[in-house]
Amino acid sequence: MATDTFYDRVQELRAEYPDPRSAVMPALQLAQAEHGGWLSEEAFREVADALDVTPAFCLSIASFYDMFRLERPGRHMIEVCSNVSCAVRGAQQVVRAFERELGLETGGTSDDGEFTLRTVECIGGCGWATVVAVNNRHRLNVQAADVPGIVEELRREQP
Ligand code: FES
Repeated sequence: MATDTFYDRVQELRAEYPDPRSAVMPALQLAQAEHGGWLSEEAFREVADALDVTPAFCLSIASFYDMFRLERPGRHMIEVCSNVSCAVRGAQQVVRAFERELGLETGGTSDDGEFTLRTVECIGGCGWATVVAVNNRHRLNVQAADVPGIVEELRREQP
């Protein structure tokens, strides 16, 4: 049985829109999922080839949206919401605690490739601030004091 290639799947997306450029967002999402959670030069070329656009066009779209990653992320992605509800409940202290615990600045990835730390806009859990998404799973009511335990738990996880 033949398996659809990336190109074939992008053609299916492309068929849903009158203009192939309109399929760039779902095609980039697909590429990011297939390329280990980020968009490499190769990923941009594949999307561009499949949609008959340029890699530069794809990059211009991807670089605008926070959901696209232009650098290889760590094995664990830690995203601290820094929007208003979380900010008033101590998000900045949570961010600082992660920076201290991981030896990283926000936006960075640890040298061993284990952790990426970033801040994000509201992720829909305002009533349970501060919200931290760890590998896309939300942790609620996180306080700075919880951070060492979260990091320890993640360090214990086997790759
Ligand atoms: S403001 Fe943080 S989840 Fe909404």
